[in-house]
Amino acid sequence: MRCSANLVELILVNLSLSPLADRALRLLHELSGSSAAPSLFSVPGRVNLIGEHIDYHNLPVLPMAIQRRIWIAFTPQPEMRVRAVSAGAYEPREFVLAKDLEPSPSGDWVNYAKAAAQAVSSRWRITRGIDAAIAADLPAAAGLASSSALLAAFTLALLEANRIAATEAELLDILPEGEQFVGTRGGGMDHAAVLGARAGSALLVRFAPFQLCPIPVPPDWCFLAAHSMTTAEKSGAVRAEYNARRLAGARALSALGFDCYSSALAQHSASQLEALARRAAAEERLTPEESRAFLHVTSEGARVEQALDALRTADAPAFGHLLIASHASLRDQLRVSSPALDELVDTALAAGALGARLTGAGFGGCAIILCRASDCSHVQQQLTARYYSRRPAFDPSLHLIRTEPSAGVLHSS
Ligand code: GLA
Repeated sequence: MRCSANLVELILVNLSLSPLADRALRLLHELSGSSAAPSLFSVPGRVNLIGEHIDYHNLPVLPMAIQRRIWIAFTPQPEMRVRAVSAGAYEPREFVLAKDLEPSPSGDWVNYAKAAAQAVSSRWRITRGIDAAIAADLPAAAGLASSSALLAAFTLALLEANRIAATEAELLDILPEGEQFVGTRGGGMDHAAVLGARAGSALLVRFAPFQLCPIPVPPDWCFLAAHSMTTAEKSGAVRAEYNARRLAGARALSALGFDCYSSALAQHSASQLEALARRAAAEERLTPEESRAFLHVTSEGARVEQALDALRTADAPAFGHLLIASHASLRDQLRVSSPALDELVDTALAAGALGARLTGAGFGGCAIILCRASDCSHVQQQLTARYYSRRPAFDPSLHLIRTEPSAGVLHSS
């Protein structure tokens, strides 16, 4: 097994063979009509198997890139301007590259291109813009990191157009900053996953010091990404909720006198930390929110280490139990679930799944469901009959995805 502090091993492939790449290339040609040879990046979405709402506290997480991807075809432009079109239901956008860009109204997709420009120019001098076309089969606002994939795609395109060779560490530094421009102070998990994942594996991401470790997923495990049919629009109202959870966890940590969560977990067992938090809450040194955030973060940190053992020993029932416990903690302690997500998780378990939990920021979006590959079709059928039959907008190709552990970013030029 290879563990590495290196992030992006850009895999050069003939991306233009993909129909979505072809769509992006044709759109780009319509946009610029230029004869310059275009470049392509393809950036996947991700599911997080376990380790939720702890990356921003620098605790290890275990995401997995999936086969659904965003494609960006682009050509560098001599003018300091970005023009972007999308094959989806998004209007063409254009803006001039400047030092301090003003965000467009919340929810406008151009903000991801602006965030990328802001992230790149926070460290380097941009002298050239891009014409860019996007095509994707990765659903938006589903907790599958489509926003991180889009931000990464625009960032990589601007870097290449400006002939800037960013190191892995630099990329991981600037991308979360870019997200902040869109409104959410996320952690580094999504960017690490969409850039650094390896086909066939989940990706253990450790922070401080940064390390990536692909861990093979047993071939008889099947992960379904199931949409709750309620959206988790990160640039919308959910953003304040997300930021509040982060703050509550950080406040609890310092009120209890720890430097960081990893040293708290190194010094004490999760149950000792639970006792500490409960006492501090009873003495009103922690607010109820802070105490619950602390309980979630420390117990989830412990679960990630147990889940790694279960994955390495191919113990699917043990991994499933940890998913169930993670969901309960996200629902009852951190309070980032929703009635729809809870119903989806319960339905999956009743249908014979080994485990299920919300994945990503929560407040809607997707659940990740573990089942044996041999049970996967049955679980899909049961979910369709019991959960999705009452949701007329359900489209199996968008909302119930049998994920394949996939490679991170791919490039061709
Ligand atoms: C969002 C953020 C991630 C992570 C998850 C919750 O997806 O972008 O960095 O914090 O929420 O685990």
